Amino acid sequence: DLATSFLEQPLDNPLMNAAGVWCTLAAQLDALVESSAGALVTKSCTLSRRDGNAEPRYRALPLGSINSMGLPNEGYAYYLDYAACHDYERKPLFVSVSGLSLDDNLTIVAALREAVLPAFLELNLSCPNVEGKPQPGYDFEAMDQFLAEVATAYRRPFGVKLPPYFDFVHFDTAAEILNRYDNLAFITCINSIGNGLVIDTDSESTVIRPKDGFGGLGGDYVLPTALANVNAFYRRCPGKTIIGCGGVQTGAHVFQHLLAGATLVQVGTALHEEGPSIFDRLQHELRELMAKKGYSRIEEFRGRLKTL
Ligand code: DHB
Repeated sequence: DLATSFLEQPLDNPLMNAAGVWCTLAAQLDALVESSAGALVTKSCTLSRRDGNAEPRYRALPLGSINSMGLPNEGYAYYLDYAACHDYERKPLFVSVSGLSLDDNLTIVAALREAVLPAFLELNLSCPNVEGKPQPGYDFEAMDQFLAEVATAYRRPFGVKLPPYFDFVHFDTAAEILNRYDNLAFITCINSIGNGLVIDTDSESTVIRPKDGFGGLGGDYVLPTALANVNAFYRRCPGKTIIGCGGVQTGAHVFQHLLAGATLVQVGTALHEEGPSIFDRLQHELRELMAKKGYSRIEEFRGRLKTL
């Protein structure tokens, strides 16, 4: 039994897509609704529709992926319309918001608030792929200002999608800021490891076109960094719910995110490569692993990571 709950809402299982993957158009979102995913999230939206960066802008690799999509999306009104028609009895829907400025975020968040939907807001503080737009998650002063204004304007529970951090001082500082906001209910760790560079030996070239080949990494490259961030914020933010994201390709990886303290687990690169049927496979593998270990419910091990 993989049943769980998220902010009081029951879910059939803890799996969902990672924002950006299989969720830009209504037909893709519909496929996630029809899949066995326990929840789904829409593509990070901006005020207006965007084409995104030049192609090729995503490349699958033996150990993961690199992308510099550049926020191609239909504009926030499209996703609010989708959210207005969603059947929330069937599974929860998250709306990812990634406005290009604080003002844009406030406009979108006000519209989401006024729509009075049971959707969850995931405020993206960590898109690494728009030139000239630094990630608020890497500027703690900007992050605090974004949160102060969004938390006040939105008033309802919401969450943030964070970039990966790599230093205990940054875990401590980020957690201290997040803990100031009572209606910041959940934290999604992690976005891609930003601005990696993949080089093809044969062609002596980069593999994606935007930004001279620099792009966000996903897949095997990021799993240990994702687990570190999930567990670092799980330890530091006891009042908040953690969503794990990064490097999930098997049921064992889902199990590791849950052990580290995640309540829900998102799938990005592997969903991009395998399609929505991946949720059947991951649940099958997680169930088998739990049975082998003698666990019948996720709550028996979630957050119970052992240390040496
Ligand atoms: C994009 C990438 C991200 O990692 C993100 O959080 C939002 C948008 C993109 O390039 O489209």
